[in-house]
Amino acid sequence: MSRRRQIYEGKAKILYEGPEPGTLIQYFKDDATAFNAEKKGTINGKGVINNRVSEYVFTRLAHIGIPTHFIRRLNMREQLVRQAEIIPIEVVVRNVAAGSICKRLGLEEGEPLPHTLLEYYYKDDALGDPLIAEEHIACFGWASNEEMQDIAAMAIRVNDFLCGMFANANIRLIDFKLEFGRIYDGDFSRVILADEISPDGCRLWDMDTNEKLDKDRFRRDLGGEEEAYQEVARRLGVLQNDDGGPGEVLDLSAHRKLRASPPPKKK
Ligand code: TMP
Ligand code: ASP
Repeated sequence: MSRRRQIYEGKAKILYEGPEPGTLIQYFKDDATAFNAEKKGTINGKGVINNRVSEYVFTRLAHIGIPTHFIRRLNMREQLVRQAEIIPIEVVVRNVAAGSICKRLGLEEGEPLPHTLLEYYYKDDALGDPLIAEEHIACFGWASNEEMQDIAAMAIRVNDFLCGMFANANIRLIDFKLEFGRIYDGDFSRVILADEISPDGCRLWDMDTNEKLDKDRFRRDLGGEEEAYQEVARRLGVLQNDDGGPGEVLDLSAHRKLRASPPPKKK
């Protein structure tokens, strides 16, 4: 491993200084946490899969005009990204009730919401990422009104696109989390999509069986998390091992239980 400078270590990723100014290397770990890191574990091969899935999703989003930090994948666990100033807000998009909204509002898991809901959480581990209103964002200056308009519009477009993309893989997109960053061009700044989009930050259910294919398997001790992540990658068509990375081999024999539905239809 090279001795490059580490910029930041998060729960699931590490950021290193990139080869050029304004770039970073985003390294995907196998570490998994839940409930504000109260629960810790490892999902073998998760980093490799999330790197691939996120590459695929961000590339497709770029094709529909969503600006993202993704530049290119470097190897099995790393991608080159644009350095952005992270806006300290987690944007959660919900199509179907699940997770914290069920507890908070007494909804039944799996109930479709009357319409897509955008929620904002303040990104602060010490505070447990509290739910906030747009008024808090404006009041404390975490993002400008203009930036919030861009963020909301992008989140809705990303949701529409991802719902279709996952439906094509026989997967229902229940909810997911997005993070955004600012990049500067002289005096101007603009908002781009940052972080990752992977089964770590999405709820993904099999269309036919409602089987969970995401980090809820880990959060709720359901088991089969490795197979679930692999299944998502397989259905999206991103499971190849052709890049001569640092010698990690994906175990494709693990599909036993979760191979409930046919492979994705070719577009
Ligand atoms: P929640 O139901 O726990 O609020 O989660 C909503 C969605 O956001 C779910 O798909 C998981 C994702 N999420 C993260 O990616 N990181 C987090 O820290 C939390 C709380 C949720
Ligand atoms: N990864 C988050 C944490 O540990 C929570 C989650 O994804 O459930 O804080």
